Amino acid sequence: MQIEQLTYALGAELTGVNLADAIHDEGLFAEVRAALLKHRVLFLRDQEISRAEHVAFARRFGDLEDHPVASSDPDNPGLVRIYRTPEQPNDRYENAWHSDATWREAPPFGAVLRCVECPPVGGDTMWANMVLAYEKLPQHVKDEIAGLRACHSIEAVFGAVMPIEKRLALKAQYPDAEHPVVRTHPETGEKVLYANVFTTHFTNYHTPERVRYGQDANPGASDLLRYLISQAYIPEYQVRWRWQKNSIAIWDNTSTQHYAVMDYPPCHRKMERAGIIGGKPY
Ligand code: SIN
Repeated sequence: MQIEQLTYALGAELTGVNLADAIHDEGLFAEVRAALLKHRVLFLRDQEISRAEHVAFARRFGDLEDHPVASSDPDNPGLVRIYRTPEQPNDRYENAWHSDATWREAPPFGAVLRCVECPPVGGDTMWANMVLAYEKLPQHVKDEIAGLRACHSIEAVFGAVMPIEKRLALKAQYPDAEHPVVRTHPETGEKVLYANVFTTHFTNYHTPERVRYGQDANPGASDLLRYLISQAYIPEYQVRWRWQKNSIAIWDNTSTQHYAVMDYPPCHRKMERAGIIGGKPY
């Protein structure tokens, strides 16, 4: 297996490897896993694997999860279909910087995404390194956010397009989750800046040390949150991947965010994602 780093920030392309072999080959799987922890997102081309093999490979990392608002392949639970076609026009979006499902108490550890069909041009995906984003923060910001916690909501994003009854039912099933604003990577011990489009507000900002009067609270908190969320937008922290049919991306959802560029409608784009269950952030 050859590994070619794609940017200084993150991302590497693997060549000379067939992911289906890593389902049964312990040594090969260990190499892929180590590369993932080092480069955070791995890319492969020309992986003619079946849906069952896609799921079996992703399951090497852990159990898989479905998504409440995107359907899964009926024969392969855990394989979520992210399809954009004229028959399935976009009623929601994925072109916002995010880590997958941080509205869960235990957000996914990672994902394996395969391109089934892509537009002739466009439809790229970008990733950002949120360990680097934390490292590069000014020290006074690091001091300010140490110990802060924030709320992550499915309601405010996927629920926003729903009629109110459906939105409230979604929220009842998936109540907001509270996570540290700086989390620790469970495998590498690195500090990760953990705020994205699902993050609605800080839950422990409003203390006498920070807020002298009630009128101080909201502008300070929301400006700081917007600043933290915007760190993923910085190009120096990013890599951008051009898809082809049977390209695969494997990402560490703890230490990265991603953004699917929606510049291709009315062309088709069909992606299938196996999301790997993770642990509770700390
Ligand atoms: C996702 O947001 O997990 C999907 C990314 C993509 O479709 O490129």
